[in-house]
Amino acid sequence: MKNKMNARFHNLQGGLFSKVTKADVGENSGRLMEQGYTFMSWADPFFPDPSLPESIKQVLIDEINQGLVSHYTMPIGNLELRTLIAQRLKKKYHVDLDPTRNILITPGSDSGLIYAMMPFLQEGDEVLIPDPSYPSNFLDVQLCGGKAIHVPLSPKNNYQLDISEFEKRLTPHTKMVVITHPNNPTGTVFNRQSLEALCHFIIQNDLILICDQAFEDHIYDQLEMIAPMSIEGMFERTVTVFSISKGLGLSGFRVGYLVSNDQFMDVYYGGTVNVLGATNTLAQKAAIAALKDESILQRYHQELFIRRNDAYEILSSIPHVKAIQPESGILSWIDVSKLGTSSEVAQYLLEHGHISVNEGTPYGYQGEGYLRIVHACFDSRQKAIKALQTIKDCLIQLGKEKGLAD
Ligand SMILES: Cc1ncc(COP(=O)(O)O)c(C=O)c1O
Repeated sequence: MKNKMNARFHNLQGGLFSKVTKADVGENSGRLMEQGYTFMSWADPFFPDPSLPESIKQVLIDEINQGLVSHYTMPIGNLELRTLIAQRLKKKYHVDLDPTRNILITPGSDSGLIYAMMPFLQEGDEVLIPDPSYPSNFLDVQLCGGKAIHVPLSPKNNYQLDISEFEKRLTPHTKMVVITHPNNPTGTVFNRQSLEALCHFIIQNDLILICDQAFEDHIYDQLEMIAPMSIEGMFERTVTVFSISKGLGLSGFRVGYLVSNDQFMDVYYGGTVNVLGATNTLAQKAAIAALKDESILQRYHQELFIRRNDAYEILSSIPHVKAIQPESGILSWIDVSKLGTSSEVAQYLLEHGHISVNEGTPYGYQGEGYLRIVHACFDSRQKAIKALQTIKDCLIQLGKEKGLAD
Protein backbone atom coordinates (compact mmCIF):
# COMPACT_ATOMS: atom_id res chain seq x y z
CA MET A 1 0.00 0.00 0.00
CA LYS A 2 2.91 2.37 0.61
CA ASN A 3 3.35 2.83 -3.14
CA LYS A 4 0.06 4.71 -3.12
CA MET A 5 1.89 7.53 -1.34
CA ASN A 6 3.16 10.50 -3.32
CA ALA A 7 6.50 9.60 -4.94
CA ARG A 8 7.96 12.93 -3.82
CA PHE A 9 8.06 11.49 -0.29
CA HIS A 10 9.83 8.25 -1.22
CA ASN A 11 13.41 9.31 -0.47
CA LEU A 12 13.03 10.80 2.99
CA GLN A 13 15.40 9.48 5.67
CA GLY A 14 14.62 8.79 9.29
CA GLY A 15 11.57 6.60 8.88
CA LEU A 16 11.31 3.05 10.17
CA PHE A 17 12.87 1.24 7.25
CA SER A 18 15.43 3.57 5.65
CA LYS A 19 19.14 3.39 6.37
CA VAL A 20 19.79 6.44 8.51
CA THR A 21 23.12 8.20 8.31
CA LYS A 22 22.03 11.68 9.37
CA ALA A 23 22.37 12.52 13.05
CA ASP A 24 19.20 14.55 13.31
CA VAL A 25 16.46 12.27 12.04
CA GLY A 26 14.69 9.20 13.40
CA GLU A 27 15.82 7.56 16.62
CA ASN A 28 19.54 7.89 15.84
CA SER A 29 20.33 10.80 18.12
CA GLY A 30 18.34 9.44 21.05
CA ARG A 31 20.26 6.15 20.94
CA LEU A 32 23.63 7.91 20.84
CA MET A 33 22.71 10.27 23.67
CA GLU A 34 21.63 7.35 25.86
CA GLN A 35 25.03 5.81 25.26
CA GLY A 36 26.77 9.02 26.42
CA TYR A 37 28.09 10.20 23.04
CA THR A 38 29.15 13.84 22.65
CA PHE A 39 26.76 15.68 20.41
CA MET A 40 28.14 18.22 17.95
CA SER A 41 25.60 17.64 15.21
CA TRP A 42 22.57 19.65 16.32
CA ALA A 43 22.62 23.31 15.36
CA ASP A 44 21.48 24.28 18.83
CA PRO A 45 23.70 26.70 20.79
CA PHE A 46 24.89 25.40 24.17
CA PHE A 47 23.03 22.07 23.79
CA PRO A 48 22.50 20.24 26.17
CA ASP A 49 22.77 23.09 28.72
CA PRO A 50 19.63 22.76 30.89
CA SER A 51 19.53 26.40 32.08
CA LEU A 52 16.95 28.95 30.90
CA PRO A 53 17.44 32.74 31.21
CA GLU A 54 15.80 33.93 34.44
CA SER A 55 13.70 36.59 32.67
CA ILE A 56 12.07 33.93 30.48
CA LYS A 57 11.63 31.43 33.30
CA GLN A 58 9.75 33.95 35.44
CA VAL A 59 7.36 34.84 32.62
CA LEU A 60 6.62 31.17 32.01
CA ILE A 61 5.88 30.56 35.70
CA ASP A 62 3.55 33.58 35.85
CA GLU A 63 1.77 32.56 32.66
CA ILE A 64 1.24 29.01 33.89
CA ASN A 65 -0.13 30.33 37.19
CA GLN A 66 -2.60 32.49 35.28
CA GLY A 67 -3.68 29.48 33.23
CA LEU A 68 -4.75 31.19 30.00
CA VAL A 69 -1.91 29.58 28.10
CA SER A 70 -3.92 26.38 27.82
CA HIS A 71 -5.87 28.12 25.04
CA TYR A 72 -5.14 29.00 21.41
CA THR A 73 -3.74 32.30 20.28
CA MET A 74 -5.05 33.45 16.94
CA PRO A 75 -3.47 31.23 14.26
CA ILE A 76 -1.29 33.99 12.74
CA GLY A 77 0.29 34.51 16.18
CA ASN A 78 0.28 36.70 19.25
CA LEU A 79 -0.04 40.39 18.31
CA GLU A 80 2.39 41.58 20.99
CA LEU A 81 5.00 39.21 19.58
CA ARG A 82 4.38 40.38 16.02
CA THR A 83 4.66 44.00 17.18
CA LEU A 84 7.99 43.36 18.92
CA ILE A 85 9.28 41.64 15.79
CA ALA A 86 8.26 44.60 13.61
CA GLN A 87 10.15 46.95 15.96
CA ARG A 88 13.18 44.68 15.97
CA LEU A 89 13.36 44.44 12.18
CA LYS A 90 12.87 48.19 11.81
CA LYS A 91 15.87 48.76 14.05
CA LYS A 92 18.00 46.08 12.40
CA TYR A 93 17.15 46.48 8.71
CA HIS A 94 15.17 49.77 8.47
CA VAL A 95 12.11 48.03 7.03
CA ASP A 96 8.61 49.28 7.81
CA LEU A 97 6.41 46.32 8.69
CA ASP A 98 2.79 46.33 9.75
CA PRO A 99 2.50 43.65 12.46
CA THR A 100 -1.11 43.01 11.44
CA ARG A 101 -0.24 42.39 7.78
CA ASN A 102 3.39 41.45 7.25
CA ILE A 103 4.34 39.00 10.00
CA LEU A 104 3.18 35.41 10.58
CA ILE A 105 4.28 33.39 13.62
CA THR A 106 5.13 29.77 12.75
CA PRO A 107 5.75 26.66 14.85
CA GLY A 108 9.53 26.80 14.36
CA SER A 109 11.12 27.96 11.14
CA ASP A 110 11.37 24.54 9.50
CA SER A 111 7.61 24.59 9.04
CA GLY A 112 7.88 28.26 8.04
CA LEU A 113 10.41 27.41 5.34
CA ILE A 114 8.29 24.81 3.58
CA TYR A 115 5.14 26.88 4.05
CA ALA A 116 6.93 29.84 2.42
CA MET A 117 7.48 27.71 -0.71
CA MET A 118 4.16 25.88 -0.90
CA PRO A 119 1.91 28.54 -2.44
CA PHE A 120 4.44 29.19 -5.24
CA LEU A 121 5.65 25.82 -6.42
CA GLN A 122 3.99 23.64 -9.01
CA GLU A 123 5.20 20.49 -10.75
CA GLY A 124 8.16 21.34 -12.97
CA ASP A 125 9.08 24.70 -11.40
CA GLU A 126 12.82 25.07 -10.99
CA VAL A 127 14.40 26.59 -7.90
CA LEU A 128 18.00 27.80 -7.77
CA ILE A 129 19.69 26.93 -4.47
CA PRO A 130 23.31 27.60 -3.50
CA ASP A 131 25.22 24.39 -2.74
CA PRO A 132 26.26 23.78 0.00
CA SER A 133 23.28 24.97 2.01
CA TYR A 134 20.69 23.78 4.51
CA PRO A 135 19.43 20.30 3.42
CA SER A 136 15.76 21.28 3.80
CA ASN A 137 16.17 23.87 1.05
CA PHE A 138 16.63 21.07 -1.49
CA LEU A 139 14.23 18.59 0.10
CA ASP A 140 11.38 21.04 0.69
CA VAL A 141 11.44 22.14 -2.94
CA GLN A 142 11.09 18.51 -4.00
CA LEU A 143 8.29 17.87 -1.51
CA CYS A 144 6.44 20.85 -2.99
CA GLY A 145 6.79 19.40 -6.50
CA GLY A 146 9.59 21.67 -7.69
CA LYS A 147 13.01 20.77 -9.00
CA ALA A 148 16.00 21.82 -6.90
CA ILE A 149 18.78 23.18 -9.12
CA HIS A 150 22.10 23.24 -7.26
CA VAL A 151 24.22 26.35 -7.78
CA PRO A 152 27.78 25.63 -6.64
CA LEU A 153 29.53 27.86 -4.13
CA SER A 154 33.29 27.70 -3.78
CA PRO A 155 35.82 28.06 -0.97
CA LYS A 156 37.93 30.01 -3.49
CA ASN A 157 35.76 33.11 -2.94
CA ASN A 158 34.84 32.26 0.67
CA TYR A 159 31.53 30.74 -0.44
CA GLN A 160 30.12 34.07 -1.63
CA LEU A 161 27.45 33.97 -4.36
CA ASP A 162 28.77 33.85 -7.92
CA ILE A 163 25.96 35.20 -10.11
CA SER A 164 27.42 33.72 -13.29
CA GLU A 165 26.68 30.29 -11.77
CA PHE A 166 23.03 31.32 -11.31
CA GLU A 167 22.83 32.73 -14.84
CA LYS A 168 24.13 29.48 -16.34
CA ARG A 169 21.27 27.57 -14.74
CA LEU A 170 18.42 29.93 -15.59
CA THR A 171 15.68 28.38 -17.79
CA PRO A 172 12.10 29.36 -18.68
CA HIS A 173 11.05 27.10 -15.77
CA THR A 174 13.05 28.96 -13.11
CA LYS A 175 10.65 30.45 -10.58
CA MET A 176 12.48 30.95 -7.33
CA VAL A 177 15.79 31.31 -5.51
CA VAL A 178 16.21 29.95 -1.97
CA ILE A 179 19.15 31.10 0.15
CA THR A 180 20.19 30.54 3.74
CA HIS A 181 21.79 33.79 4.89
CA PRO A 182 24.04 33.58 6.81
CA ASN A 183 24.64 30.21 5.25
CA ASN A 184 24.41 26.90 7.04
CA PRO A 185 26.84 24.98 6.90
CA THR A 186 29.60 27.44 5.88
CA GLY A 187 28.66 30.33 8.17
CA THR A 188 29.11 32.75 5.24
CA VAL A 189 27.44 36.14 5.54
CA PHE A 190 26.63 37.08 1.95
CA ASN A 191 28.21 40.47 1.33
CA ARG A 192 26.65 43.55 -0.26
CA GLN A 193 28.17 42.89 -3.67
CA SER A 194 26.89 39.27 -3.74
CA LEU A 195 23.43 40.22 -2.56
CA GLU A 196 23.00 43.21 -4.83
CA ALA A 197 24.01 41.09 -7.82
CA LEU A 198 21.62 38.33 -6.73
CA CYS A 199 18.73 40.76 -6.25
CA HIS A 200 19.40 42.34 -9.64
CA PHE A 201 19.31 38.86 -11.22
CA ILE A 202 16.06 38.05 -9.40
CA ILE A 203 14.34 41.28 -10.44
CA GLN A 204 15.55 41.08 -14.04
CA ASN A 205 14.21 37.55 -14.39
CA ASP A 206 11.00 38.12 -12.42
CA LEU A 207 11.79 35.49 -9.75
CA ILE A 208 10.78 35.03 -6.11
CA LEU A 209 13.31 34.94 -3.25
CA ILE A 210 12.94 32.84 -0.12
CA CYS A 211 15.63 33.96 2.33
CA ASP A 212 16.15 31.97 5.53
CA GLN A 213 17.78 34.19 8.15
CA ALA A 214 17.68 31.69 11.03
CA PHE A 215 21.33 32.49 11.81
CA GLU A 216 21.17 36.30 11.47
CA ASP A 217 21.82 37.17 15.13
CA HIS A 218 25.49 36.36 15.58
CA ILE A 219 27.68 37.99 12.95
CA TYR A 220 31.37 38.44 13.73
CA ASP A 221 34.25 40.73 12.76
CA GLN A 222 31.96 43.75 12.17
CA LEU A 223 30.63 42.21 8.95
CA GLU A 224 27.50 43.80 7.58
CA MET A 225 24.29 41.71 7.75
CA ILE A 226 21.97 42.82 4.96
CA ALA A 227 18.41 41.54 4.63
CA PRO A 228 17.60 41.16 0.90
CA MET A 229 14.01 42.26 1.60
CA SER A 230 15.43 45.71 2.40
CA ILE A 231 17.08 46.07 -1.03
CA GLU A 232 15.13 48.23 -3.46
CA GLY A 233 12.58 46.30 -5.52
CA MET A 234 12.85 43.16 -3.40
CA PHE A 235 10.14 43.49 -0.72
CA GLU A 236 7.42 42.71 -3.25
CA ARG A 237 9.13 39.46 -4.26
CA THR A 238 10.75 38.20 -1.03
CA VAL A 239 9.61 35.96 1.80
CA THR A 240 12.00 35.95 4.77
CA VAL A 241 12.13 33.11 7.28
CA PHE A 242 13.21 33.70 10.89
CA SER A 243 13.69 31.65 14.06
CA ILE A 244 14.28 32.11 17.78
CA SER A 245 16.11 28.74 17.88
CA LYS A 246 19.60 29.83 16.91
CA GLY A 247 20.33 33.38 18.05
CA LEU A 248 18.37 33.13 21.27
CA GLY A 249 19.08 29.45 21.89
CA LEU A 250 15.38 28.64 22.35
CA SER A 251 14.91 25.79 19.88
CA GLY A 252 12.71 23.79 22.24
CA PHE A 253 9.97 26.41 22.17
CA ARG A 254 9.46 25.95 18.43
CA VAL A 255 8.81 29.54 17.40
CA GLY A 256 9.71 31.08 14.07
CA TYR A 257 8.17 33.75 11.82
CA LEU A 258 7.68 34.68 8.20
CA VAL A 259 7.89 38.24 6.93
CA SER A 260 6.52 39.33 3.59
CA ASN A 261 4.39 41.83 1.68
CA ASP A 262 0.58 42.19 1.83
CA GLN A 263 -0.03 40.25 -1.40
CA PHE A 264 1.81 37.12 -0.28
CA MET A 265 0.70 37.42 3.36
CA ASP A 266 -2.90 37.43 2.23
CA VAL A 267 -2.37 33.84 1.08
CA TYR A 268 -0.18 32.78 4.03
CA TYR A 269 -2.63 34.18 6.61
CA GLY A 270 -5.49 32.50 4.77
CA GLY A 271 -3.85 29.08 4.80
CA THR A 272 -2.31 29.14 8.28
CA VAL A 273 -4.94 27.01 10.00
CA ASN A 274 -4.95 24.39 7.26
CA VAL A 275 -1.21 23.97 7.07
CA LEU A 276 0.40 25.10 10.33
CA GLY A 277 -2.39 25.27 12.89
CA ALA A 278 -1.41 27.79 15.56
CA THR A 279 1.92 28.15 17.35
CA ASN A 280 2.10 27.07 21.00
CA THR A 281 0.70 29.86 23.21
CA LEU A 282 3.17 29.50 26.09
CA ALA A 283 6.09 29.32 23.66
CA GLN A 284 5.06 32.65 22.14
CA LYS A 285 5.09 34.16 25.65
CA ALA A 286 8.65 32.87 26.02
CA ALA A 287 9.57 34.49 22.68
CA ILE A 288 8.11 37.82 23.85
CA ALA A 289 10.14 37.66 27.07
CA ALA A 290 13.28 36.77 25.11
CA LEU A 291 12.90 39.67 22.68
CA LYS A 292 12.26 42.11 25.53
CA ASP A 293 15.38 41.07 27.44
CA GLU A 294 18.14 42.38 25.18
CA SER A 295 20.85 41.16 27.56
CA ILE A 296 20.31 37.55 26.40
CA LEU A 297 21.51 38.17 22.84
CA GLN A 298 24.41 40.32 24.05
CA ARG A 299 25.58 37.65 26.50
CA TYR A 300 25.30 34.85 23.94
CA HIS A 301 27.07 36.93 21.34
CA GLN A 302 30.14 37.41 23.53
CA GLU A 303 30.28 33.72 24.39
CA LEU A 304 29.67 32.48 20.84
CA PHE A 305 32.40 34.75 19.50
CA ILE A 306 34.87 33.18 21.93
CA ARG A 307 33.68 29.70 20.95
CA ARG A 308 34.09 30.54 17.26
CA ASN A 309 37.69 31.61 17.87
CA ASP A 310 38.49 28.49 19.90
CA ALA A 311 37.02 26.26 17.22
CA TYR A 312 38.94 27.88 14.39
CA GLU A 313 42.19 27.78 16.33
CA ILE A 314 41.88 24.06 17.05
CA LEU A 315 40.34 22.86 13.78
CA SER A 316 42.70 24.86 11.56
CA SER A 317 45.70 23.32 13.33
CA ILE A 318 44.79 19.73 12.32
CA PRO A 319 47.18 18.39 9.68
CA HIS A 320 45.55 17.58 6.31
CA VAL A 321 42.33 19.38 7.30
CA LYS A 322 41.25 22.76 5.90
CA ALA A 323 39.09 24.99 8.06
CA ILE A 324 37.60 28.36 7.25
CA GLN A 325 36.97 30.96 9.92
CA PRO A 326 33.15 31.06 10.37
CA GLU A 327 31.75 34.57 9.80
CA SER A 328 28.67 33.91 11.91
CA GLY A 329 26.89 31.54 14.23
CA ILE A 330 27.83 28.25 15.79
CA LEU A 331 29.02 26.04 12.94
CA SER A 332 32.38 25.00 11.55
CA TRP A 333 32.69 23.55 8.04
CA ILE A 334 35.91 21.65 7.49
CA ASP A 335 37.46 19.92 4.50
CA VAL A 336 38.58 16.43 5.53
CA SER A 337 38.82 15.02 2.00
CA LYS A 338 42.48 14.05 2.41
CA LEU A 339 41.44 11.73 5.24
CA GLY A 340 38.50 10.01 3.54
CA THR A 341 34.89 10.53 2.51
CA SER A 342 32.56 12.50 4.78
CA SER A 343 30.93 9.30 5.86
CA GLU A 344 34.21 7.50 6.65
CA VAL A 345 35.59 10.39 8.70
CA ALA A 346 32.32 11.01 10.58
CA GLN A 347 32.11 7.29 11.35
CA TYR A 348 35.71 7.31 12.59
CA LEU A 349 34.92 10.17 15.00
CA LEU A 350 31.86 8.33 16.22
CA GLU A 351 33.74 5.10 16.84
CA HIS A 352 37.03 6.46 18.16
CA GLY A 353 36.03 9.78 19.76
CA HIS A 354 32.39 8.99 20.62
CA ILE A 355 31.54 12.31 18.97
CA SER A 356 28.66 12.84 16.58
CA VAL A 357 29.22 15.41 13.81
CA ASN A 358 27.37 15.96 10.51
CA GLU A 359 28.54 14.46 7.25
CA GLY A 360 28.81 17.10 4.54
CA THR A 361 26.79 15.27 1.89
CA PRO A 362 23.22 16.28 2.90
CA TYR A 363 24.27 19.93 2.38
CA GLY A 364 24.65 19.37 -1.36
CA TYR A 365 26.99 17.96 -3.99
CA GLN A 366 29.79 20.23 -2.73
CA GLY A 367 29.54 18.59 0.70
CA GLU A 368 31.42 15.37 -0.08
CA GLY A 369 34.72 15.38 1.81
CA TYR A 370 33.44 17.90 4.39
CA LEU A 371 32.12 17.75 7.95
CA ARG A 372 29.86 20.19 9.76
CA ILE A 373 30.71 20.57 13.43
CA VAL A 374 28.49 22.47 15.85
CA HIS A 375 31.35 23.98 17.82
CA ALA A 376 29.22 26.06 20.22
CA CYS A 377 27.53 23.27 22.11
CA PHE A 378 27.73 22.52 25.88
CA ASP A 379 27.23 24.77 28.88
CA SER A 380 30.93 25.56 29.19
CA ARG A 381 33.78 26.68 26.99
CA GLN A 382 36.06 24.06 28.59
CA LYS A 383 33.81 21.17 27.52
CA ALA A 384 33.68 22.51 23.97
CA ILE A 385 37.47 22.85 23.83
CA LYS A 386 37.86 19.31 25.16
CA ALA A 387 35.54 17.91 22.48
CA LEU A 388 37.32 19.86 19.72
CA GLN A 389 40.64 18.58 21.03
CA THR A 390 39.29 15.01 20.88
CA ILE A 391 38.30 15.62 17.25
CA LYS A 392 41.82 16.87 16.57
CA ASP A 393 43.46 13.86 18.25
CA CYS A 394 41.22 11.43 16.35
CA LEU A 395 41.91 13.06 12.99
CA ILE A 396 45.67 13.11 13.63
CA GLN A 397 45.44 9.39 14.38
CA LEU A 398 43.36 8.79 11.24
CA GLY A 399 45.98 10.64 9.18
CA LYS A 400 48.67 8.32 10.60
CA GLU A 401 46.59 5.25 9.81
CA LYS A 402 46.24 6.53 6.24
CA GLY A 403 50.02 6.89 6.02
CA LEU A 404 49.93 10.68 5.56
CA ALA A 405 53.04 12.59 6.59
CA ASP A 406 52.65 15.12 9.47
C1 LIG B 1 19.21 27.29 8.22
C2 LIG B 1 18.16 26.73 9.11
N1 LIG B 1 16.90 27.13 8.95
C3 LIG B 1 15.91 26.68 9.72
C4 LIG B 1 16.17 25.74 10.72
C5 LIG B 1 15.03 25.26 11.55
O1 LIG B 1 15.05 25.81 12.82
P1 LIG B 1 13.76 25.87 13.74
O2 LIG B 1 12.69 25.02 13.11
O3 LIG B 1 14.21 25.35 15.06
O4 LIG B 1 13.36 27.31 13.79
C6 LIG B 1 17.46 25.28 10.93
C7 LIG B 1 17.76 24.29 11.97
O5 LIG B 1 18.81 23.71 12.03
C8 LIG B 1 18.49 25.80 10.10
O6 LIG B 1 19.76 25.40 10.26
